Amino acid sequence: MNISSNYQITQNELKDKVVLVTGANRGFGRAMTLDLAKAGATVIMLGRDLASLEGVYDEVVDAHYQEPVLYPFDLEGATPEHYEQLQADIFVNFGQLDGLIHNAGIIGTMMPIEQYDIKLWYSTMQINLNAAFMLTQFLIPALNKSADARILFLSSSVGREARAYWGAYGVSKFALEGLSKTLSEELEQTNICVNSLDPGRMKTEMRRTAYPAENADNNPLPETKSPAMVYLMSNKTAHLNGEQLTLE
Ligand SMILES: NC(=O)c1ccc[n+]([C@@H]2O[C@H](COP(=O)([O-])OP(=O)(O)OC[C@H]3O[C@@H](n4cnc5c(N)ncnc54)[C@H](OP(=O)(O)O)[C@@H]3O)[C@@H](O)[C@H]2O)c1
Repeated sequence: MNISSNYQITQNELKDKVVLVTGANRGFGRAMTLDLAKAGATVIMLGRDLASLEGVYDEVVDAHYQEPVLYPFDLEGATPEHYEQLQADIFVNFGQLDGLIHNAGIIGTMMPIEQYDIKLWYSTMQINLNAAFMLTQFLIPALNKSADARILFLSSSVGREARAYWGAYGVSKFALEGLSKTLSEELEQTNICVNSLDPGRMKTEMRRTAYPAENADNNPLPETKSPAMVYLMSNKTAHLNGEQLTLE
């Protein structure tokens, strides 16, 4: 299902909502943090690099948007105990969670499966897939406390149609699509809607690494797509569950 990137954000549209964004320190995560905060949501900015998280925090505060919360967290090294602590911190500070956006990811490398570096395969699967599974499992109780919650998995065209040499990245996105669909069926009778989203190409580090030869300036800035994230976290999308969404 196609979703328009062109969404007019209304002030306070997400007032009183708490949304956790992974990889909030740069790229699409940074852009969506700014727009979600602009719409009044309190964004829990999860990322592994405190200095760049603080930089985005300053941007949000300087713009007089809703003040976010920083949550330094390494999705590759985190153990179940770290997720348990995150769960406890969210309950103590907010009592509930209204949105969980699995945005963080790494591209791995472009290589035939036959030669794919095994260590890099594990890292890519850990960050892109296993971390999303654990984060989801530990945060469902807080999402259950919300009257209208969202879980969104950032996917990719290579997670919907296989492409040679995209290796662990492509396979992890296929798996996220499966996780999203399975979870959407399990949570069908709850207030939690679960969907996947292919944001399309954007001018970020990840795109630059994947396509080193292209002119990066021809790719849309993440800021041109992030308003749609407000729509997807809003009460207007309670009818969407188990969908494979694509930003156009
Ligand atoms: N850009 C595109 O054209 C495009 C197209 C289709 C889908 N997507 C998807 O959109 C999402 C965002 O992509 P992007 O282009 O914004 O990527 P990006 O610029 O490379 O940013 C990736 C984010 O993930 C974070 N991250 C990586 N490993 C982490 C770890 N171990 N712990 C915590 N955070 C970690 C990074 O943090 P650090 O700064 O610490 O590395 C960064 O914030 C991804 O899921 C991607 O697959 C992007």
